[in-house]
Amino acid sequence: MSHALPIDLRLPLDRALTALLARRGAALGVPEELCAAQYSNKGSQFQCNGALAAARALKRAPRQLAEEWAASLSAEERALFSTLEVAGPGFINLSLSDEVLAARSALALADERLCVPRVASPERVYIDFGGYNVAKQLHIGHLRSTIIGDTLQRVLRFVGDEVVSDVHLGDWGTQMGMLIEAVREERPGLPYFEDAAPAGGFPAESPLSLADMNRLYPAASGRAKEDEAFRARASLATAELQRGHVGYRALWRHFVALSVAEVRHDIAPFGVEFDLWCGESDAQPLIPELVARLQAEGRAELSEGAWIVPIADERGEPMVPLMLLKRDGGATYHTSDLATVVMRVREGADRALYVVDARQEMHFRQVFAAAAQTSLGARARGGVLALEHVKFGTINGADGRPFKTRSGDTVKLRDVVEMAVEAARARLEEGGLLADADEETRASVAQAVAVAAIKFGDLSNHRASDYVLNLSDFCSFEGKTGPYLLYAAVRVKSILSKAAERGLAAGPVVLRGEHDRALALALSRLPGVVAQVHAKKTPHLLCEYLFELSQDWSAFYQHCNIVREEDEAQRAGWLSLAALCLKTLTTGLGLLGVEVPERM
Ligand code: ARG
Repeated sequence: MSHALPIDLRLPLDRALTALLARRGAALGVPEELCAAQYSNKGSQFQCNGALAAARALKRAPRQLAEEWAASLSAEERALFSTLEVAGPGFINLSLSDEVLAARSALALADERLCVPRVASPERVYIDFGGYNVAKQLHIGHLRSTIIGDTLQRVLRFVGDEVVSDVHLGDWGTQMGMLIEAVREERPGLPYFEDAAPAGGFPAESPLSLADMNRLYPAASGRAKEDEAFRARASLATAELQRGHVGYRALWRHFVALSVAEVRHDIAPFGVEFDLWCGESDAQPLIPELVARLQAEGRAELSEGAWIVPIADERGEPMVPLMLLKRDGGATYHTSDLATVVMRVREGADRALYVVDARQEMHFRQVFAAAAQTSLGARARGGVLALEHVKFGTINGADGRPFKTRSGDTVKLRDVVEMAVEAARARLEEGGLLADADEETRASVAQAVAVAAIKFGDLSNHRASDYVLNLSDFCSFEGKTGPYLLYAAVRVKSILSKAAERGLAAGPVVLRGEHDRALALALSRLPGVVAQVHAKKTPHLLCEYLFELSQDWSAFYQHCNIVREEDEAQRAGWLSLAALCLKTLTTGLGLLGVEVPERM
């Protein structure tokens, strides 16, 4: 379509049609907010229901108003549609002509963003996810934060927000004191337990290996549950570390370094990057000032020797007060998070997201209430820092209880990956895939399939729901799974390369019937889906969309054999549609952190 169209095809199609209807509706007195055209599956591609409510306000018959509205389109505007009709009590049903849909497909294919618009007002967003803890090995409980947080950082960046992701290590809790005490018992001769640094300074080399730490910490943690005296020593060591004991500090730095190296190793299969490797400890220097500020503002109160911050819920009802300083003067997890809020405000953040287990909901409600009801969340340039707990549910086993090993232990994150790789291999073999490939290819494909299976299996559930981890199901090549989608994308890829090998060129998109039309329409839905995921922080909507898209692809390909098509223009057009489909699948999966392998 070379001539200028009466709608902007670069916009998400529902928005372009909404703008058109609003333009015409205004003349009839239809309020703008009632002009929305939405994607529909009730016989037409789009539907606008606004005439019903508008008729009520205008005291008119809805069907008549809808008819007048539809008839008010100019001939040129009407030419955009293959269907433009009023149905039922006054729905306006709209379907675009094949030419318009084809033109839109061509625009998307030529645009590296696939016509996904940038947000009108980009924000500086801090995303706190991962939340791994120093000295503790990563376990299955860290999976969702890692995967959901990464998807959100990708989606937010894609639509133009300025994202700063922070791993926010738990590096300041009582586990530190336990580990210090465990090291002291095993190696009392080390220089870290003196009150001052040795003359030549502390050794640069870590006194313990990762294996030492992973042996000592679980033992110490178990012992702390039974041995009260040990617990007391550990808590004293934690307090001294927090007060700045030089030896403990030096030892602690080694713990952090060992843990960071292990974290990097364990999350490597997921391809997740963090901008900041900060921890709770980084917020500690801000605490004295924060406490003084709350005291001066009269927002902190002394209660039985502890400093608390009284807070209220949305209805103004009092909540459990936030514990700012315990009776022993120690700060809490809450205080740490409040101090981080102050840091974010200073760093010019507009919004902070916390991708954390739903079981910490109360914690965040308290922290957010304290930030909002004191001066802490207020930004220098006006407004407040928006705080959002992006909560997620629990990963359960077949018994519906949190996923555990057979002996009832927590499952390590790396074991989840290993089990998934095994399941992926079994599925690849079962499907007779890669039978002719060498071992190296098989291993790398199994790894890619496993990671796609875990990520998609997780993300396809609404994040707030619990789900049952069934790796064999997640790795299936049928149904709504990561491997199914990978396979779909790889197949499109191979069709395109087969066509290229035969010297078949792509050309302007031409639509002929039900199936290529349905595919083109499905392809046009990406921008709206991305916008929703962005607004609601709900990656499952993107999973849903990609699954539906790949089904539309299958139906199309079943009926339209591209390579064997004899009409050259048709074949060339379908090749472009296939290229757009591949690009859309790859981009969508990319937003989920899933990479499409070359072959499978
Ligand atoms: N390390 C914490 C835990 O394991 C999670 C940290 C979440 N982030 C935060 N800012 N509180 O529970």
